[in-house]
Amino acid sequence: MSSEAHDIIDLIRTKRDHGTLTTSQIDWMIDAYTRGYVEDSQMAAMAMAILLNGMGRPEIRDLTLAMIASGETMNFDALGKTTVDKHSTGGVGDKITLPLMPLVASFGVAVPQLSGRGLGHTGGTLDKLESIPGWRASLTNEEMFAQLRDVGGVICAAGSGLAPADKKLYALRDITGTVEAIPLIASSIMSKKIAEGTQALVLDVKFGSGAFMQDIAKSRELAQTMVDLGNDAGVRTSALLTDMHRPLGLAIGNANEVRESIEVLAGGGPADVVELTIALAREMLTLAGIPDADVEGALASGQAMDTWRKVIRAQGGDPDAALPVARETHVVHAERSGVLLEQLALPFGIAAWRLGAGRARASDPVQHAAGIDLHAKAGDAVVAGQPLFTLSADEPSRFARALEALEGAYAIGDASEYVSRGPLVAERIS
Ligand code: URA
Repeated sequence: MSSEAHDIIDLIRTKRDHGTLTTSQIDWMIDAYTRGYVEDSQMAAMAMAILLNGMGRPEIRDLTLAMIASGETMNFDALGKTTVDKHSTGGVGDKITLPLMPLVASFGVAVPQLSGRGLGHTGGTLDKLESIPGWRASLTNEEMFAQLRDVGGVICAAGSGLAPADKKLYALRDITGTVEAIPLIASSIMSKKIAEGTQALVLDVKFGSGAFMQDIAKSRELAQTMVDLGNDAGVRTSALLTDMHRPLGLAIGNANEVRESIEVLAGGGPADVVELTIALAREMLTLAGIPDADVEGALASGQAMDTWRKVIRAQGGDPDAALPVARETHVVHAERSGVLLEQLALPFGIAAWRLGAGRARASDPVQHAAGIDLHAKAGDAVVAGQPLFTLSADEPSRFARALEALEGAYAIGDASEYVSRGPLVAERIS
């Protein structure tokens, strides 16, 4: 425990009364909480005080550094390559890591992508990749290092040794209504990313119906807080604010999102997925010192696909194996002709989750073939009777609850009623 001891009740009162915590107090609190000396009930009161009263920039920095110090840190300097990573705050149909990692790695930089599993309506990269027969998410630090050296990219589960204080605090926030506090979100994400040892980091901070932060002003504040934390810690960090009002691409699920990612790596795929993949790849390669890389060319020529195949093989997967297909499908058709006016990300995410693509508890399994395939995007002209989307599940009993989630989530009207959204990539923050 840190040399100077404090009283957690005094610290809670300080934050409750709009005071400022010192570096020594924050170091002590996080260390004492990790060791179990400060109890969950006390830390829950502190998290609520932070949610209500906020934290100043020095406090957020101290909290992040204390959570990093609670566990191990990784270091890839011996690779002799620039390391660059991406983190997304999560959304519906957000499979961008899958085409992005091999695309960026194909330019000779190392991409250590430590990823998570899905919880609630947003999917997890590891769940998606586990649709590929044989693919393995858990690697030792030595395997990870060797793969970064030999292939350039890796997507694997973060070891439990990185920022254990965050793991404990995040689980507590999840059950105490204290997830949505910018100082807590920013320190949680950045403690893990800084501990991972990447030299550069691009953040994809979402706003809109399917995102953590509905509102662009809040996501801007979160992005700026994280960018400052990264740069202060010596990690070259920038962020793109991107629209998550509507699902990304046409596939929402696991195996179907892998299929769509492979289409992008083959030079095709939905325009929005391609646009965001290219924007994030440019940003990552710029931070890695290769600002004029021919990113589109690497997709068109198969250069990125070659790296994808090597990464999947290196982790035990068969890039040519057939992906799982659901036992049952249910197609929803257009009730009238017109224009698809809206497609709200959150209800589509909830529907895919109810079909079995996501989990309610961390220990639940996911059904890899469950999900939704859209056949039209908002703004498209549709004719009465044409398929709008297909639900897939292993048990047909899941369709009713998924359809319930989709009530009011989409609408067809006249072309004059259609309101287009702003650009997918709304802002860049550095
Ligand atoms: N993801 C995290 O890792 N932490 C948060 O607080 C929110 C999202």
